[in-house]
Amino acid sequence: MNNLKDNFGRTFPYIRLSISDVCNFKCGYCLPNGYQVDKNDQRKFLHLDEIRRLAIVFSKLGVRKIRLTGGEPTVRKDFFEIIKILRNEADIKKIVITTNGYHLDKKAKKLVDSGLNGINISIDSLDRKVFKNITGHDRLIEILKGIQDLQDLNFENIKINAVLLKNVNASEKDFEEWGDFIKKNKVDVRYIELMQTGDNLNYFKKYHVSSKIFKDYLSRNNWIFQTFGKDAGPSLNYINSKYKGKFGIIAPYSKDFCKTCNRLRITSRGDLRLCLFGNTGISIRHLLQKDEQIVELQDLILKQMKFKKESHYLELGETGLTKNLSTTGG
Ligand code: 5AD
Ligand code: SF4
Repeated sequence: MNNLKDNFGRTFPYIRLSISDVCNFKCGYCLPNGYQVDKNDQRKFLHLDEIRRLAIVFSKLGVRKIRLTGGEPTVRKDFFEIIKILRNEADIKKIVITTNGYHLDKKAKKLVDSGLNGINISIDSLDRKVFKNITGHDRLIEILKGIQDLQDLNFENIKINAVLLKNVNASEKDFEEWGDFIKKNKVDVRYIELMQTGDNLNYFKKYHVSSKIFKDYLSRNNWIFQTFGKDAGPSLNYINSKYKGKFGIIAPYSKDFCKTCNRLRITSRGDLRLCLFGNTGISIRHLLQKDEQIVELQDLILKQMKFKKESHYLELGETGLTKNLSTTGG
């Protein structure tokens, strides 16, 4: 098998595939004015057949896990059709999604029935007003109901992501509220350190705070650092026997963050991105048009791997192509 490998000894069994840039939320750090249609850009998001070919090619290259992201992936009308195709037509073992949780209560049953293997839900605060201020939508209640429904249906792999924001959701009280939540729920809650993007410089300056404050909270409160498993993502996980769920920290600015990178990204319009932030990437869409192009596409992707850089160089204030994370799904 031709496995995807880069010059730094990393392999890539995992891709994050954005299936739509559209998002119905207006998170301050990402799309503060909501999603805007770019009238100069007539290209449509990847259609079903292109997604099918993409999944087949990447599975041939050793990819075993696909995360569907956006924007908000569930806004696509054929969202469940996409899951079905990944499941039935490519050798992908794990299909997971990242969602803002919109209408999660209405979708929970269908998500479980689709055979999805995991779900990451973004919830920046358990306070309804704060949630509304950050996202522009008063939808915390339906999202929490959806999470309860998923658990009632014995859905296993539920994770919550919260972006850590100074003076918004980063107090001891906020951490304790999440603690109460994971005492009762077998759900992992991870704080992500706010990342600077091309669009959010002022927001970043105002709200960025080092994840060290959360790390310190965890050590003061007897949370134990859990060492990495083989399939470990970028999250540093902490466990406590009194709690059903784990806490996690995703700190993209930390020194060794990129060392364990195991993922590639595909944008909703078919660009291969070697890094969330790097300006490395090419369109592979022209080779997604016919089944016969699979070998050619495979070669192109393999050749791209030598351009993957060792790190994102974020600490140098380098934001690459990334205006905001809605095109590459975080
Ligand atoms: N910094 C950190 N996290 C971000 N996300 C979106 N934009 C940023 C940013 N600038 C998060 C979303 C979601 C995940 C996919 O990425 O909140 O949880
Ligand atoms: Fe990998 Fe780029 Fe993410 Fe670093 S920032 S972990 S190199 S995708």
